Amino acid sequence: MKTLILFSSRDGQTREIAEYLASELKELGVWADVVNLHRTAEPDWQNYDSVVIGASIRYGHYHAAFQEFVKKHATRLNSMPSAFYSVNLVARKPEKRTPQTNSYARKFLMSSPWRPDHSAVIAGALLYPRYRWYDRVMIQLIMKMSGGETDTNKEVVYTDWEQVARFAREIAQLTNKTSLK
Ligand SMILES: Cc1cc2nc3c(=O)[nH]c(=O)nc-3n(C[C@H](O)[C@H](O)[C@H](O)COP(=O)(O)O)c2cc1C
Repeated sequence: MKTLILFSSRDGQTREIAEYLASELKELGVWADVVNLHRTAEPDWQNYDSVVIGASIRYGHYHAAFQEFVKKHATRLNSMPSAFYSVNLVARKPEKRTPQTNSYARKFLMSSPWRPDHSAVIAGALLYPRYRWYDRVMIQLIMKMSGGETDTNKEVVYTDWEQVARFAREIAQLTNKTSLK
């Protein structure tokens, strides 16, 4: 049993979550490869029983490479057990942390040709000191408007790792079900 975990990340949090998922899956007896979606044109699909894709949001959008990948591989993705997770900062608010209540995830799932079996919305990280000046100012403004952290000296990781562990258990069940078929 092997799972392919693809991630589309800019500052590394979606990758961290992918790696955490892989280590949780290993504990559950499922091997996983973690692969950067931006650096893979054609995964070796035949090596995997299931696939997970995680993508982060920047200025309201997923990376174009992620959107293109999904379009290009929709048939393949729909032919195997699959899961999707969306990483963003709106999800730092628990009530905005489900595929139904998070607008980025909801919109994506409504229009996507890929129909994942499971979807999760996971809160990302706010890493002010690492951002370029423009991004730091913009994010601070957004945080001010939405009642979030505005101290630009701070790095805050909002990811709920227990939620990620629960998501890993759902993925493991998905993978186990196929192997019993
Ligand atoms: C320049 C920039 C723009 C962002 N825009 C949004 C946004 O529009 N909505 C949101 O919820 N989060 C936004 N975020 C927060 C990111 O989604 C969050 O930091 C996430 O952890 C990034 O994941 P990554 O490191 O895998 O790219 C933004 C972050 C940055 C740095």
